Amino acid sequence: MSSSNDLHDRVKKILYSLTGISLSENKDIMIANRLHKLKRDTRYDGDIEELLDAVEEGSFTMEFINSFTTNKTHFFREDFHFADLKDRVLPIFAKNSQQIKMYCSASSTGEEPYSMAMTVLEASEECGKNINATILATDIDTNVLQYAANGVYRYSKSSKEFPSWLKPSKYFKRRVQKTLASEEILIKVKPELQKMVTFKVMNLNDPSYPYQKDYFDVIFCRNVLIYFSNEDQNKILKKLFSHLKIGGTLYLGHSENPQDLISCVERVGQNIFIKRKDFY
Ligand SMILES: C[S@@+](CC[C@H](N)C(=O)[O-])C[C@H]1O[C@@H](n2cnc3c(N)ncnc32)[C@H](O)[C@@H]1O
Repeated sequence: MSSSNDLHDRVKKILYSLTGISLSENKDIMIANRLHKLKRDTRYDGDIEELLDAVEEGSFTMEFINSFTTNKTHFFREDFHFADLKDRVLPIFAKNSQQIKMYCSASSTGEEPYSMAMTVLEASEECGKNINATILATDIDTNVLQYAANGVYRYSKSSKEFPSWLKPSKYFKRRVQKTLASEEILIKVKPELQKMVTFKVMNLNDPSYPYQKDYFDVIFCRNVLIYFSNEDQNKILKKLFSHLKIGGTLYLGHSENPQDLISCVERVGQNIFIKRKDFY
């Protein structure tokens, strides 16, 4: 039997080869917990080493990936990005009656793309004109994508997720669910938001992406690059960037930066970048 160090190194190698995620040191407790989850989800009754043999041979790939992704997100996370989208980007598309194509590249359980969709509807109201928008939302984790497509969320009255410029009751149906211990409020995304967003599975670590060059007007790539090595962050950013139009906007998470693309972008806000030229 191998030591827990060897076991964890093996997990890191498998995770990297399947997703590109680089787990840093000091992740022993996390790895142990996630291996436990993997065993439970696969209902595998052999030992963990045999389970990893099976993953290496191509079984349980989806369960392995779903167990090791970190999916923390919430509605209007870093809400200044949505304010920028509403006040700077969307009015131009309203004025020109032009369709806007947006991409959310690590959508997790859906709060981020639905926040983009709510922002479009708010901007349409403010501009007095319907903005025609499509939002493609992808993630590598099939469980979160299913959750997102379902569009049902827990809601807490004390939640400060929603910005002051938006009333959540416009966009969700409310349902109270009684459990043995308490009552919880569930909210379901209304159809007008759901029909704007298409969810698909996609691995950012794939060598290329199935989109046309210069296709998207807006790309959100937030709080996902942090899971990759510097070198791999650069590769992902360059691939994403090739699908963004000149003049399009790239939104990155609070501790992410455009790396090698820095000379091709203009910074217009906190981790908000306009593409000024292609990267060669
Ligand atoms: C921490 S969440 C961030 C969600 C959202 N973008 C936000 O900022 O709130 C990171 C997401 O990236 C996804 N992810 C991790 N590796 C990925 C990969 N190689 N390709 C696509 N998505 C990936 C995870 O499944 C997870 O849902």
